Amino acid sequence: MANNELTFGDEEFIVSKTNLDGKITYGNSLFIQMSGYSELELIDHPHNILRHPDMPAVVFKLLWNQIRSGKEIFAYVKNKTKSGDFYWVFAHVTPSFDSNRKISNYHSVRRKPTTKALEIIKPLYASLLQKEKNSGIPASEEMLAQILKEKGVSYDEFILSF
Ligand SMILES: Cc1cc2nc3c(=O)[nH]c(=O)nc-3n(C[C@H](O)[C@H](O)[C@H](O)COP(=O)(O)O)c2cc1C
Repeated sequence: MANNELTFGDEEFIVSKTNLDGKITYGNSLFIQMSGYSELELIDHPHNILRHPDMPAVVFKLLWNQIRSGKEIFAYVKNKTKSGDFYWVFAHVTPSFDSNRKISNYHSVRRKPTTKALEIIKPLYASLLQKEKNSGIPASEEMLAQILKEKGVSYDEFILSF
């Protein structure tokens, strides 16, 4: 089974858009190319088509809580391609608003993460995932909150600090 790491250029951006339910409505050519799927296989399908089993659910819970409340979020995400390969991204996910300030859709722009950041994120995600498997998502939420409390920073400050 394929489990190779794919990378992309420092100057490149992986872009996608979703509707309010997280169904993909747009992907730039790099998004389509990295995913290994055809555009037809992606458009109108839920974004979790790329979900990697190494990702802790708490990260996506945080992501959806933030964007549904109208805020942006930065997150490191490991994605799984059609063939079972993977690639890491540093994602900026934002809601878009209509003229009545109602959220109309979501937008994500992803850059290549630094090696230094992944050295911090990989063990953190492994611990959160283990916690989720053993004790559930509320327990991993609590774990993340505790780690941030010990560091004396918010999630936003933490994620932008390396
Ligand atoms: C604009 C946008 C981009 C997203 N990009 C990704 C992504 O690249 N990879 C991913 O696994 N989930 C991404 N998600 C989150 C997925 O919608 C989903 O919550 C996640 O894959 C976890 O799957 P689940 O919610 O079914 O557990 C994105 C969501 C939005 C709104």
